[in-house]
Amino acid sequence: MKRFIMLSAVVAALLCSCSQPENDLREITDKVFGLAKIQYAAMDAALAEDAFPKTTDAEGNLKTSDIGWWCSGFYPGSLWYIYEYTGDEAFRDLAWKHTRRMEAMKDRHTDHDIGFQINCSYGNALRLTGDSTAIIPTYVQCARKLADRFTPAAGVIKSWDFLRNDWRYPVIIDNMMNLELLTVAARLSGDASLADVADSHAKTTLRNHFRPDWTSWHLVDYDPETGDVRYKETVQGYAHESAWARGQAWALYGYTMMYRETGDREYLEAAENIGDMLLGKLPQDGIPYWDFDAPGTPLRDASAGAIMASGFIELSTLTADKEASGKYLDMARLQLRTLASDEYLAEPGENGNFILKHSVGNLPGKSEVDVPLSYADYYFLEALVRYSSL
Ligand code: GLY
Repeated sequence: MKRFIMLSAVVAALLCSCSQPENDLREITDKVFGLAKIQYAAMDAALAEDAFPKTTDAEGNLKTSDIGWWCSGFYPGSLWYIYEYTGDEAFRDLAWKHTRRMEAMKDRHTDHDIGFQINCSYGNALRLTGDSTAIIPTYVQCARKLADRFTPAAGVIKSWDFLRNDWRYPVIIDNMMNLELLTVAARLSGDASLADVADSHAKTTLRNHFRPDWTSWHLVDYDPETGDVRYKETVQGYAHESAWARGQAWALYGYTMMYRETGDREYLEAAENIGDMLLGKLPQDGIPYWDFDAPGTPLRDASAGAIMASGFIELSTLTADKEASGKYLDMARLQLRTLASDEYLAEPGENGNFILKHSVGNLPGKSEVDVPLSYADYYFLEALVRYSSL
């Protein structure tokens, strides 16, 4: 009997240690959130009334955007994650302050990025405060603006309004990320048509955006009258046929999220296929080159690494394949450790008060090359919170 009790204790301890975050990651997470509090409080003090953090300039100083830039929701979103992890109410107040600034989006002309802007700000506010009266009307109104960009004949949401290269109806893989605004708004409002738009967009993208090896093109241009595909391109990558890293990250995260939101196994299988493709391509330290097919030793993109880490953590909790789950989680751990190393993590007061260094926004456009980016920080903090909640 005594031996049985001892054996049970050992088994219980082993089970417990497997499901607990590893100790070094707990320390890493504490360290990153300690830094995040310093950086993001300083950021608030440095911001003009109508400005949102974007990146740094050539001298390493904070560069801001107005509310219309696709990244305006990431700063309030990061503040919500800092509040969530640290419980520091000063950060809840800061998060509310900058979330409320996003309300103006409901009356502005916008593109598909309203999903990023509103879900990262108001979506996290709803998740963490449950203050439905303050949040739901704005959230649902913004979701309707996104759904208004949907054309039934094409079966997808139009991502961009600016038309280059003879495009008529450009849809980018990034657009997958914005569907969460629709699925959540459908639940909040009872309007199932919002979820139907998300489902149609995800299914049509699955048919047209992916190559046989599960890498994806960045942009597919449609004929809005017939739904026919006109072009497949990779605008922000090395070449049209290359695997632009952040696009692959959006795809991993987007299909994982759509499986969580709908329970549709087609989305889970897509996420697993994308995840397996990435496991075969990622370098030893887990941080992707800005484009997997760029020649030489290309720059890394910390933002894509952070988005992937967050996606891999969620996918590891959803897949029924235990072995695959372990591999996804191991990769996320590696990515989080590398991002928290001196190579990527800023010193307090430096890096324009962002947390992570070394992201690539748009290299072909010669914009935001090897710089901090607000969304690298956002998905890094999200991934750490997700990991610590396992
Ligand atoms: N959604 C724009 C980008 O990933 O650069």
